[in-house]
Amino acid sequence: MTDPRDPLGLRSDAPMLAAWLDATALAAEGRVLPMCVPGHKQRQDLVGSVVAGDSPFYGGLDTIKHADSLRVDAEERAARLWGADWCRFSVAGSTHGNQALALAVGVPGRDVIVNRTLHKSLLMGLVLAGLRPVWVRPEIDAASGLPAGVAVATVRDALAARPDACGVFLGDPTYVGTVSDLARHAAVAHGAGVPLLVDAAWAAHLGFHPGLPPHAIAAGADAMVTSAHKALPACTQGALVLAATGRLDRARLDRAFEATHTTSPTGSIMASIDAARALLAADGERLCARLIGGVAAARKRIAEVPGAAVLDGPGVEPTKLVVLLAGTGAHGHAVEADLIAAGMPVEMADRDTVIPIPTLADDEDQLAAFADVLVAAIERHRGRPRAVRVAAAWAVEPQPVMAPRDAFFAANQTVPASAAIGRVSAELIAPYPPGVPVLAPGELVTAEALEALREVAADGGRIAYAADPSLATFQVIR
Ligand SMILES: Cc1ncc(COP(=O)(O)O)c(C=O)c1O
Repeated sequence: MTDPRDPLGLRSDAPMLAAWLDATALAAEGRVLPMCVPGHKQRQDLVGSVVAGDSPFYGGLDTIKHADSLRVDAEERAARLWGADWCRFSVAGSTHGNQALALAVGVPGRDVIVNRTLHKSLLMGLVLAGLRPVWVRPEIDAASGLPAGVAVATVRDALAARPDACGVFLGDPTYVGTVSDLARHAAVAHGAGVPLLVDAAWAAHLGFHPGLPPHAIAAGADAMVTSAHKALPACTQGALVLAATGRLDRARLDRAFEATHTTSPTGSIMASIDAARALLAADGERLCARLIGGVAAARKRIAEVPGAAVLDGPGVEPTKLVVLLAGTGAHGHAVEADLIAAGMPVEMADRDTVIPIPTLADDEDQLAAFADVLVAAIERHRGRPRAVRVAAAWAVEPQPVMAPRDAFFAANQTVPASAAIGRVSAELIAPYPPGVPVLAPGELVTAEALEALREVAADGGRIAYAADPSLATFQVIR
């Protein structure tokens, strides 16, 4: 008999899911009187149903003493699926995964090659680990104003210039779905004797259909981080960190992972990662095929709109839908507002770009319905075509003068924007999304960076992590 709470019967291959189903069923029947946390004790008459389904991993899905064997069972299944030999499930997103990987390589003070279009979580990982980034930058495509993957030659040159570097960190695919040649990147990194670590936050589905690029581990990377809540149907915050440990130390990876993970992971997020992995194993290829087909149709429909374009071609992963608006004159924020009003919020919109995130959960009809509403919104806001402006996150040319960690801990002061130019930033400032820092601790505050941030703010974009999001003042090293 099918359990309506597990309609596809995933529990037979998903031990954490099975444990969560059992634990929450017992709680729903009122058959437990827990004398351990969480403090809601499975009652919904206090703060209400907001805590429904919350069962702690330790002490809920299994006893506090024994849940590690359940954890290892599920994580080993994921490791096998990705061809890795080490895996951990995180309830703190790829943010935590990136920081764990940063803590797992090198020693404070060592150089590490990193693409500058990194997510801010990795930059803070470098602060935690005391690594010194040697920035590599992608080519910016003039037609779209968006970054490609990082060229292999760029990383090879950086490694040649910094023979002491202890690793290469790449974000791949990029936020806009462009991919680099990870197999050649891995060969170059390994040729230099260092591991390749990949932030594949958006790419948990890659490698599960012949029409998709291989995932990072299959391409030869030593470790990858991916958000199960992004491309896969897991709960918000669910992420996986995977490694093929020939060049990495397993015990160090575990220590690095545990350093900043909660000791009280919630069972629902953990179980949802396990369930998403089981779904990918059982039916991933069919679901990916449906997604690829739906996105191809949506791309075609949108590209037929006069002035509109989509990112497409061999350097773009096929499930990504990146809509380019400059030729339509429509402003991305106006289009986004219409989409929100229609109940179709998108992941990112700036003046020239709208980025919805189709996933394995979307079928062809849903993607076609989205495309219809999007096209109507573009038509409603159509204006004079304009030239593409490269967004601040992609355009920034950092001028590092101090290691991020040194700057993070240095004494600082708050100064008016005009006095900040030429000083060293103490803070990380990123338009969000995409969360790529325009200013990082240890970098010179330049007139260009300030202008780029002001443009984002003036255009209605969100300036995240700045002590003063109005950008009237900046925190600089004293
Ligand atoms: C490239 C990249 N890496 C890491 C992250 C952080 O992921 P999470 O939200 O799962 O912590 C993001 C978030 O958007 C991202 O875009």
